[in-house]
Amino acid sequence: MPDKVRSYVVAHLPGDGIGPEVTAVARDLVDQAGKQHGFTIDWRPCPLGSEHYLRTGEVLPDEIRSELRKTDAIFLGAVGSPSVPPGVLERGLLLRLRFELDLYVNLRPAKQRLGVDAAGADDLDLVVVRENTEGLYAGAGGIVHRGTAFETATEESLNTRAGVERCVRYAAKLAAKRSGNLTLVHKTNVLTNAGSLWMRVAEEVAADQGVTLDYAHVDAACLYLVSDPGRFDVIVTDNLFGDIITDLAAALTGGLGLSASGNLNPDKTGPSMFEPVHGSAPDIAGTGKANPAGAVLSAALMLDHLGEPAAAADLEAAVDAVLASGGAASTDAWAEALTAEVAR
Ligand code: IPM
Ligand code: MN
Repeated sequence: MPDKVRSYVVAHLPGDGIGPEVTAVARDLVDQAGKQHGFTIDWRPCPLGSEHYLRTGEVLPDEIRSELRKTDAIFLGAVGSPSVPPGVLERGLLLRLRFELDLYVNLRPAKQRLGVDAAGADDLDLVVVRENTEGLYAGAGGIVHRGTAFETATEESLNTRAGVERCVRYAAKLAAKRSGNLTLVHKTNVLTNAGSLWMRVAEEVAADQGVTLDYAHVDAACLYLVSDPGRFDVIVTDNLFGDIITDLAAALTGGLGLSASGNLNPDKTGPSMFEPVHGSAPDIAGTGKANPAGAVLSAALMLDHLGEPAAAADLEAAVDAVLASGGAASTDAWAEALTAEVAR
């Protein structure tokens, strides 16, 4: 008897700027790969973002949040618009989803792909496991004496043993499946409190998972990413360091247009959320120039997480093939070339 067709519910949040353009390409390719691999996606369009906010004042209404919780995955384009004050959508939508869905791993692979004219060294092929719910992003802090000469602003970095441990454990397991080497990136010589906790936990977890542990201060890690990236395979780091070094890794491997990310709930007690690393790029929105590769590679991470690794590999191979043959000049040209590759 043939297998029953597998089906997944995926919320599609195109968001702002180029988000709708690039996620439409990725969505069609996922459907195409699904036909070839025997699954379907029940896409649930979800129009949150700047337009919705400006029209209704809502950023993430409760009903929508409960609907999102019931899905198998969330596929997000990008949020942020010059017409909305900074932080409203970033904190109110993106970070809120990361925190409330407990998406404690932000998975960001970076690798040199053939045919890409990249600034970085050829042996850059690594995955950053960025802690995604704590650190300086947690929102602990405030402003007192506002408007006076003594106005004081604080942002505290929160690092819980449980939060650090689950993130490092995910990274160590990933390292065990790859090279067996894990690198902790932190700043233990200055951030001695958080640094001590991260280091002790990383040592324990690495020993427990049977992987070797290296360490680099974040400033040195930036230098090595440029000068000697071959020393890294899986990097685990805190939220803000991870934010920063993944932009650097993206720049070194051909730019944000090619970079993918998954906000994971590795325990699969709820949906994970997938989004390209790039932002909404309002300057090129509507010009037809946006590169959908980052969105397509993010969709591949999603398929892998949903348990469709063969389809995921097809999407990644399609991106690789198009890049190897010189890339494509427009969003439409990308879509056409990728469709042909997936059909192969
Ligand atoms: C990212 C982005 C976000 C972050 C912003 C938009 C809140 O830069 O996903 O890397 O800082 O995490
Ligand atoms: Mn970032």
